[in-house]
Amino acid sequence: MNAETGYDAWLRYVPVHGATLPPTLVTLDDSVLMRSAREEMSRGVLGMLRKSLRAETTMPNGDCILLGTLPAVRRAVPDVELPETLGEDAYVLKAVRIGGRSVLLVVSSNDRGVLYGTFALLRKVALGEDLQRMDETHTPLAPIRWTNEWDNLDGSIERGYAGRSIFFEGGNVLADLRRAGDYARLLASIGIDGCTVNNVNANVRVITPEFLPQLVRLADAFRPWGVHLSIAVDFSSPKLVGHLDTFDPLDPKVAEWWKQKADEIYRAIPDLGGFLLKADSEGRVGPSTYGRTHADAANVIARALKPHGGVLVYRGFVYDHHMDWRNLKNDRARAAYDNFARLDGQFDDNALVQIKYGPIDFQVREPVSPLIGALHATNETLEFQVTQEYTGQQRHLCFLLPMWKEILDFDLHAADRPTPVKEIVSGKAFHRPLGGFVAVTNVGRDPNWLGHDLAVANLYAFGRIAWNADLTAKQIIDEWTRLTFGSDPHVVDAITKMQLESWRVYEEYTGPLGAGGLTDIIGAHYGPGIESSERNGWGQWHRADEKGVGMDRTVATGTGFIGQYTPPVASLYESLATCPDNLLLFMHHVPYTYALHSGKTVIQHIYDSHYDGAEEAQRFPRRWQTLRGKIDEERYQAVLGRLEYQAGHAIVWRDAVCNWFEKASHIQDAQGRVGHHPGRIEAESMSLDGYTVTGVQPWETASGGKAVTCQAAQCTSVMRFNEQGGRYDMSVEYFDQNNGAAHYDLSVGGKVLGRWTADRALPTNKLDGHSSTRYTVTGVKLAPGDEIRITGRPQGGELASLDYLELQPAGK
Ligand code: GCU
Repeated sequence: MNAETGYDAWLRYVPVHGATLPPTLVTLDDSVLMRSAREEMSRGVLGMLRKSLRAETTMPNGDCILLGTLPAVRRAVPDVELPETLGEDAYVLKAVRIGGRSVLLVVSSNDRGVLYGTFALLRKVALGEDLQRMDETHTPLAPIRWTNEWDNLDGSIERGYAGRSIFFEGGNVLADLRRAGDYARLLASIGIDGCTVNNVNANVRVITPEFLPQLVRLADAFRPWGVHLSIAVDFSSPKLVGHLDTFDPLDPKVAEWWKQKADEIYRAIPDLGGFLLKADSEGRVGPSTYGRTHADAANVIARALKPHGGVLVYRGFVYDHHMDWRNLKNDRARAAYDNFARLDGQFDDNALVQIKYGPIDFQVREPVSPLIGALHATNETLEFQVTQEYTGQQRHLCFLLPMWKEILDFDLHAADRPTPVKEIVSGKAFHRPLGGFVAVTNVGRDPNWLGHDLAVANLYAFGRIAWNADLTAKQIIDEWTRLTFGSDPHVVDAITKMQLESWRVYEEYTGPLGAGGLTDIIGAHYGPGIESSERNGWGQWHRADEKGVGMDRTVATGTGFIGQYTPPVASLYESLATCPDNLLLFMHHVPYTYALHSGKTVIQHIYDSHYDGAEEAQRFPRRWQTLRGKIDEERYQAVLGRLEYQAGHAIVWRDAVCNWFEKASHIQDAQGRVGHHPGRIEAESMSLDGYTVTGVQPWETASGGKAVTCQAAQCTSVMRFNEQGGRYDMSVEYFDQNNGAAHYDLSVGGKVLGRWTADRALPTNKLDGHSSTRYTVTGVKLAPGDEIRITGRPQGGELASLDYLELQPAGK
């Protein structure tokens, strides 16, 4: 098996057996996109069939693949039955016989659709599908299918977990944009037609005249793949860049400035997709500076873009992050609706409001944002995240498509007929001219784009679902797995199952019953930090106290958020009798002893789900190990490493959440697990040489709230094994900070069994729930009296800290 880096993602074009294709490729039109289509077809066929296609521009006598736009194909083969018209980017794949020749047709209304059809045909070849009876039309659900990249001009990426930017470095666009071009190719292969390259927290420089030539180069890299470049802009640009004395959207000078700016940019980049704007949110300035509305702000820019066919995408993620947490009626979840619903109908036709799927912020479980159903006369885009900001940051496996499907299919009852989210945001439900889907993606320079080889499925799934939201999660992950790892039935079965279970598993060991992820809200959004959300203005409150937990968002006694839904949905959530368990704590504040529909109490559910989820995460590496030899060793090892890390971190999560809630509620786990860890030896209870005991903040992220740290060149922590002899799995819980790379040795009876360096890139320089990490050696033979010794050598700011040692009978 060839070594693989993951760079080719799902476009590997490895040899397939038994497939045949005509020997000649005819491309009827000539354009940069048609050239891409032709080259892609040749590349794919060469890889998969080991054959070079003969390229022609007119119909040959023999069999051929024919790529072209509808009018050109009609002229070339007038007798073939084709649709009268095709929507933008839609394509037909059809096998026909013309005068004794076999012809595989790829036909579209436009060049880009031909490129999409080319990728689709190649996908069929790769999946071993029958091409002989092919007769299919594929039409995208919506015109806007974009990614947003939160890349900063200095090359860093906000909430990016796969290396630095593939677009920027040191304040400039990279000199070498091959990677950007390859990314655009990946996007095109799944039907994505736009990419906003810079952070929504936009740097004003991006629209300065000096920067424009650099943007031109980016647009050039995307163009062969039909991906429109777009950029995030700062609303005060008229002042900061244009040196006007105002950025008031209703001031004619400001309108004129935006118009001139758009004209200037479109002269250089005629196919620019448009601008993305985050205003009046999280410290960004906006129309409120002048008492104007979001519609005023959107329209002044939309009007400047309109003559060029550009769109203005306005973030619906607007809220006050200085809310008074003491006021039980305050509620961040209300913000999007409160800000935008009353402006319905006031946005121009080339403006869209981009709405995150939930009312808070990309949590592992949220209800659908009520704003989605409230705008009937305004274009929308739905915002998902491929980058796993709150869902494990690509160190944890979390395939998000099952969640996205639930969102897309949810019926908001926004009119007197079924209105699932996918119909609303695509523009179909209310006959909007525009609509679509956006995913914050944040690919980086890691060879496999997203860091975790299995996380790449989220990008693939986003593209597929943005094109056709009716595809099932099973179907999409099955395709992705075959394309990415081959069609060995065991490989397909094992990977698809793990992927499909992973979101549920992640939810189980992180966030219960709709309380959100109980992560460090004001920091990295990664490891556990249960109280970080409370007593501050950010509004991600779960309001857990000694009596109960959850936000009361009812109309009757709470914040009234539930009233933002139409009556059929509101009544579902308002009543405890009908509110689904998995959103209970999002909608209601209940005592810990409250009985769920499942029959369990809330507190016991919290314990059980965290234990169940962590246990399932322990099984992931073992399930993955059954694939050894069936996939390439490089990706096998890379994924195994991440799954093992996840298995350890799931325990950190489990213990932090369970310990915290046990302390808060004073109610013990009915199964007696919480706080009782057979085989666990706290580092602070071992014989320490050099190590000193220290408290950890937040306390629940270290076992017993304490750890030991080493202030010397080397320290040891020793214990004598006094249990029954046998084989054990030994785990060391240590802290891997990002301000050093300490070394550790684990030895038994003087023999070193494990040696490692704490050099993972985890988002903290402290002892906490982000840095707590597990190192495990399996199957160690221990006899009574054996000395177990952990030696730590600090490096940089990292003090070789330890939390505990755990001994479990091997394989348990
Ligand atoms: C989240 C995220 C921020 C981001 C913001 C947004 O709050 O943590 O980094 O800027 O969303 O979507 O604008």
